[in-house]
Amino acid sequence: MPKVAVVTGAARGIGAATARRLATDGFTVVVADLDEAAGKDTVDAIVAAGGQAVAVACNVADEASVDAAFERVAAELGSVDVLVNNAGVLRDNLLFKMSVEDWDTVVSVHLRGAFLCSRAAQRYMVKQKSGKIVNTSSVSALGARGQANYSAAKMGIQGFTRTLAIELGPYGINVNAVAPGFIVTEMTDATAARVGVSPEDFRKAAADITPLRRVGEPADIANVVSFLVSENASFVTGQTIYVDGGRKL
Ligand code: NAI
Repeated sequence: MPKVAVVTGAARGIGAATARRLATDGFTVVVADLDEAAGKDTVDAIVAAGGQAVAVACNVADEASVDAAFERVAAELGSVDVLVNNAGVLRDNLLFKMSVEDWDTVVSVHLRGAFLCSRAAQRYMVKQKSGKIVNTSSVSALGARGQANYSAAKMGIQGFTRTLAIELGPYGINVNAVAPGFIVTEMTDATAARVGVSPEDFRKAAADITPLRRVGEPADIANVVSFLVSENASFVTGQTIYVDGGRKL
């Protein structure tokens, strides 16, 4: 039986690239996103390339939705071997203009979402005494103007990762995080629009302040997730790996 990898927010961007990469690695991939239709393009791309994937509706911030999605995955595919907590949203604003709703939305999707999905996944992983969880932090965890909500959630993810590594390690479960720098997706294009510059100029400005002098592509993150869920990383746990072209230097 191929191993099963659940990737949240896999309809597009980094999640879609990660889903495609894990399918190439031999996993049956669950493309989890807000609705099943949204995940269709990712599933079609995986199947066209000879892989196996299924789209599952899952709002990561909603307990009932998460539990139902994982129950369905376990019933239909037999196990949950890998969880990639990738789903995310932005509601950027300076603190004095940030609404409670902006705060709650971002903290709910990133932090509550990672908590609910990890809690659901470990029910299966602990029983089988193996599993891999990869959470998604960000360079913004280190501080980013206009992102008090996002930065707090993304640094929270790092503490969450270390704690799960301690609690789940005895059951053979590795828990790590990736912290992407600037990656070209609809999320960064939307930020360009918000600050009033073209996506091209926004990317160039980011590349100019990055030691490797380029912005990242979704595949740059997918490659590291692929390593973290592989046996090559079997003694790596509790880590947050910055994948940022050296930007935080
Ligand atoms: P994106 O906006 O292109 O895609 C996010 C996906 O998450 C979408 O398919 C969306 O429908 C889904 N999603 C949103 N809320 C959800 C929910 N409640 N339940 C299930 N799915 C939901 O974003 P991108 O750029 O691909 O980002 C992926 C992850 O990487 C996010 O956690 C983001 O914070 C993080 N990240 C991205 C960076 C970048 O430069 N693009 C940099 C650092 C971190």
